[in-house]
Amino acid sequence: MTISINDTTQYHRSDGASLGWEQTISECLNDINSPYMNALKTRRVYGDTISDLFKANSLLKSNARVLEVGGGYGRLAARLLENFPDISMIMADVSPVFLHRQKELLSRFGARVEFVNSDIFEYISICDEFDLIVANEVVGDLPAIVDIRKSDLIEFFESEKVPEGIDEVGADCLSNARDFIQNLKIDIDDETNIAPDIINLNTGAMEFISMAMEKTPALWVSEHSSDYEIPKSMSGMFRDIGLDKWPKKIVLFNHNEVSICFDHLKRGVKNSGYQYTGGSLMELLNVRTDDEIRFVLLSGSIANENHEIIGEFLNHVKEYQWLLVQR
Ligand SMILES: C[S@@+](CC[C@H](N)C(=O)[O-])C[C@H]1O[C@@H](n2cnc3c(N)ncnc32)[C@H](O)[C@@H]1O
Repeated sequence: MTISINDTTQYHRSDGASLGWEQTISECLNDINSPYMNALKTRRVYGDTISDLFKANSLLKSNARVLEVGGGYGRLAARLLENFPDISMIMADVSPVFLHRQKELLSRFGARVEFVNSDIFEYISICDEFDLIVANEVVGDLPAIVDIRKSDLIEFFESEKVPEGIDEVGADCLSNARDFIQNLKIDIDDETNIAPDIINLNTGAMEFISMAMEKTPALWVSEHSSDYEIPKSMSGMFRDIGLDKWPKKIVLFNHNEVSICFDHLKRGVKNSGYQYTGGSLMELLNVRTDDEIRFVLLSGSIANENHEIIGEFLNHVKEYQWLLVQR
């Protein structure tokens, strides 16, 4: 195992980029008639739920400018443009394939939307200010340091020397990992969340949040998390709960993502003096918690296709969190 940076840009720049095998929540809940809607108390398209949250936080006043990074097939943007008729949006995406899909879906909004094919780190360093930046299921794609052996990290901490057998890239990663851990005051021996033998760190996600907050008073982030908690209303309803809360590599078609430790991001946000609210996406989506759902999740017995869809969806969405960062 070699310490390295997980990088998805080559995959996203390729013709093969697709959301077909990723099952993003915004895709699952993009149609009121989707079978995934059976998992919600009230059928509501994802982009409308997020619009409600933005409204409740008075985020999008008239003529607001919104940047969405990594907009995928453009579903969330379509609902924002519909629900806030005065706003304009810039869609920035590294993937020509996804950007093409966004253009197709959003063409009916005309000059209210612009499209930029760029890596987000490049674009955000040169762009103007926005009233809101949206990063929905994107930060897990951003560079992350992966495959650090905990024993190597401890040796590096203690001796300041790079352990034998680690190449130049690994040595750089190790020193960045040390800075990340020290800046965020993370205790790798914390008994309530002891680090695993192989450590991954969301360095790119943290860097993106810092850069984005220089350009906006408000930032929306949602992602597959490693430190999710099951809401009280659903406690005891899930069988597979992760053991430690550190970021995990998620193997997907032709690329890997890394789940996000929201506690680490929140520490960074707090260090920079920003405020945040956030929580479980299951609560925000208002998923069902009734006896049928309890049965589907706990019995493992699938009585029909609908049960299978609900069970798979809830087991997936349980791991998602959201964060609204504000200056
Ligand atoms: C998992 S998809 C999420 C799509 C969409 N937001 C959704 O929720 O369905 C990740 C998106 O981020 C984009 N992306 C990944 N890395 C990026 C980068 N470095 N800069 C800009 N966009 C990036 C991908 O092309 C894709 O559109």
